[in-house]
Amino acid sequence: MKRAVLSFALAMLAWQVQAATCPDFHASTMDANGVPPATWRQDYPSVYPDPDDRQPWEAFNFRTAPVEYMNAVLETAKTAFQIKDQKLTASGQGDWWISQWLDYSNAGREPLMGLTKERGPDPGDLSETSPDGYQVWAVGFYNRPGAAVLGDIFAQPCNPSLPVAVKFPADTASIKFLFTDASTDNVTYLKDGPEYDAYIDPPGSGSSSHAASERKLSQVRLLQVDIAIKDARSRETGWVFGTFVWRAPPKGDKLFDNLVPVSLQWGNDPGVYDASIRQSWINPDLRGVTYGWRSRPTLGFMGRANGPADNIRSSCLSCHAAGRTPRALIGLLDNRFDMTKLYDPALVKSHVDTWFQNVRGGQLFQPSDPAVSSLDYSLQLETGMFRICLACAAGDLQGQTPDVCRASGFYNRPVCSASTTDTVRKQVLQSVPPPRQ
Ligand code: HEC
Repeated sequence: MKRAVLSFALAMLAWQVQAATCPDFHASTMDANGVPPATWRQDYPSVYPDPDDRQPWEAFNFRTAPVEYMNAVLETAKTAFQIKDQKLTASGQGDWWISQWLDYSNAGREPLMGLTKERGPDPGDLSETSPDGYQVWAVGFYNRPGAAVLGDIFAQPCNPSLPVAVKFPADTASIKFLFTDASTDNVTYLKDGPEYDAYIDPPGSGSSSHAASERKLSQVRLLQVDIAIKDARSRETGWVFGTFVWRAPPKGDKLFDNLVPVSLQWGNDPGVYDASIRQSWINPDLRGVTYGWRSRPTLGFMGRANGPADNIRSSCLSCHAAGRTPRALIGLLDNRFDMTKLYDPALVKSHVDTWFQNVRGGQLFQPSDPAVSSLDYSLQLETGMFRICLACAAGDLQGQTPDVCRASGFYNRPVCSASTTDTVRKQVLQSVPPPRQ
């Protein structure tokens, strides 16, 4: 009995300490539109689960049974999320947590579902006829083992503490829901899908983002669901990344029951300069649905795994392997590769050799550029670290400069900017590139 009381008290203490967000920050984009913000969990667990716990996906070999593996991962999220009042919400039995510090800047979380702004797809990305200007917004979560890492990092939410190499434990899983305002006239596989409310940029904005206060209540549909799993059987990278697409017609819960596996990836196929990709699996049934036309012959670069919302020049792992703070000088993979030069062997080789290495989790991408921390494939952490420093530089975070901002050279003064004018703040915020190029 005593022990139970003690552990309850300790749990409450841990909850109180870890549920906190930074009190010196008053510019959350979750507060920008005058509606009550979504209440996703940030009360990170303080204890790491036993790594010997069996996870349902361990019963499947992702190389030979990719669909079963992916569905087993998805199954672990099914009871945690639901559609309610035109929103994706927690069902109350969920062991999924969001990261801190994504609720700032023009791409920062909107209030209704906590979505951040992602890359706007290029014309012809989502379907053969999809035009320019569609928006994609997303919210990502970590399961218990992953959230325990967030708990360590954000124990002091105004001053995150990063080890030299972040290492997510085995069994970490992350899930990310991506929504779009694309018209179902162009993207027919979303037809009759449930509509969700979100505050997003004006129609036609594509990748370009506006001040959070200018966002408008709009309707979006679920397009894609991404998963990432730390799995030691991936000797290539330590990670397995995959994605599902929402495919019409609606059935069952209209959420998970409509998701069809698109692709799965455990390695980047380094040194492969043609289409003989072996470390990705692509669902052949989706040819002509999510890929297989002139502007989008493949999902990712030369047949590597990616989702419909993603850039054909990249792959899931190619972007995520670059997770570090600060970013390497070459940044994240973007539109620099000219897709009409796909038949130039020297250019292809240089693109593959730069971006498609098999970086082991915890290893540093581009080690010749100094870093504070390698982030083990977490781009939420990367974005969060960038935004906290931005908030400090723009005067929206007050008090002591977070250690990570000084160590990375982002902002060197001991105290965050105090006298920023609205003009300066606007300039700082407008200099921020959208997160997913
Ligand atoms: C061009 C770069 C890029 C590509 C390609 C990409 N991502 Fe991401 N991803 C990001 C960024 C940036 C974030 C974090 C910011 C956010 O969520 O807005 C992110 C976040 C995530 C998260 C949440 C956990 C985390 O690492 O922060 C998951 C899970 C994820 N992506 C899975 C995938 C999968 C699966 C694919 C391939 C189907 C993919 N990503 C392709 C850039 C990319």
